[in-house]
Amino acid sequence: MDSHSAASEEKTQKTGRILAGFLAPHPPHLVYGENPPQNKPKSQGGWENLRWAYDHCRAKIKALKPDVILVHSPHWQTVVGHHVLRVPKLSGLSVDPIFPHLFQYRYNMEIDVELADACAEEASREGLIAKKMTNPNFRVDYGTIVSLHMLNPDWDIPVLGISANNSPYYFAHDYAQEQMIKLGEATRRAIEKTGRRAILAASNTLSHLHFDREPDIPEDMSREYVYSFDQYQWDMKVIDLMRQGKTDELMAVLPEFMEKTAAEVKAGSLVWMLAAMGFPPLPAQVHGYGSVIGTGNAVVEWDLTRPAHGLPDSADREAIVCPT
Ligand SMILES: [Fe+2]
Repeated sequence: MDSHSAASEEKTQKTGRILAGFLAPHPPHLVYGENPPQNKPKSQGGWENLRWAYDHCRAKIKALKPDVILVHSPHWQTVVGHHVLRVPKLSGLSVDPIFPHLFQYRYNMEIDVELADACAEEASREGLIAKKMTNPNFRVDYGTIVSLHMLNPDWDIPVLGISANNSPYYFAHDYAQEQMIKLGEATRRAIEKTGRRAILAASNTLSHLHFDREPDIPEDMSREYVYSFDQYQWDMKVIDLMRQGKTDELMAVLPEFMEKTAAEVKAGSLVWMLAAMGFPPLPAQVHGYGSVIGTGNAVVEWDLTRPAHGLPDSADREAIVCPT
C-alpha cells in the first residue's frame, strides 16, 4: 500500500470531528491592509488590531493540522436552497463590488469535494433544499475569500464554501435560523462520516450600521471608529456572552441584536457554526475587536479540543500547543 492509500484509509477509519470554530469577519479592508501578493490594490497598512487577531488564529490552525476549513459566507447568496462548492479546484479574480479599489484578489483554492457531497446529502436528509455548485468558472465571493485568506493565507489546507440562503432577508428570521440549525447539524454529520478533522469559519461581522463616506486614504486610522455608542454596547453584550460560554443566552439575544444593529449574523453563518458545534457552553476566546467603516468586527475562537470540553484525545492535546 502506498503512503497516499494508507493516509486515505486512515482518514476513513477514524471518526471525523470539528476541532474549532472561528467567527471570522470578512471586510476586504483587512486583506487590503495586509498587502498580500494576491491582492492588486496596495495600502500603507491599517486595521492592525483585527489583522493581528487573525495572526493568532493562523498559528492555532497550523498547529491543529486540520483536513479542511469550511466557511459559510453571507456574500454567496442563494435564493433557492443551500449550496456547496463542488469543483475540485477553483481559481480566478474576485473583485469586491463595493470596494474594487481595495480588493481585487487572485484566488486558487482546493475544494474538499467528498465532504461537499456529504454535506449536500446530509442537508437533504434534514429536509433542506441542497445543491452542489459544479460550474468550473464560478467566481467565488469576497466574503469566502477574505475569511479563508485571513485564517490561512498559505491556502495549503483544502476548503469548502457554503452559501447563505437569503431567506432571513426576504422571508422570515425565525424560519431562516431554524434552517441554519439544520444545516449546522447536517454539516457536523458530514464531517463525522467523512472522517475529517475540520475547522469551521462563520464569515460574519457583528454590528453592521456603517459610514457611507470614505476618507481620501482608506487606511487612515484616525478616521476609523465605531459607528455609535449604542452599536458598540450591543457588540460588547454579545461578545461578553461568547466569552462566558453563555451560548443559550447568546442565541436568545441574537434576534434583537440583528434588529437593533443590522448585525450581519442575520445571514446565518454564526448560527450555522454554533449548531454544528452543538451549541457548546464553552467560553470563547476573543482574539480581537475592531471597527471597519464603523461596523463591529470580532475575531473569536471556540476551541473544541480543550480538556474542559471533555473532547480531547492525546494527539489533540499535543496539537493545541502553539506559539501564540
Ligand atoms: Fe459582509
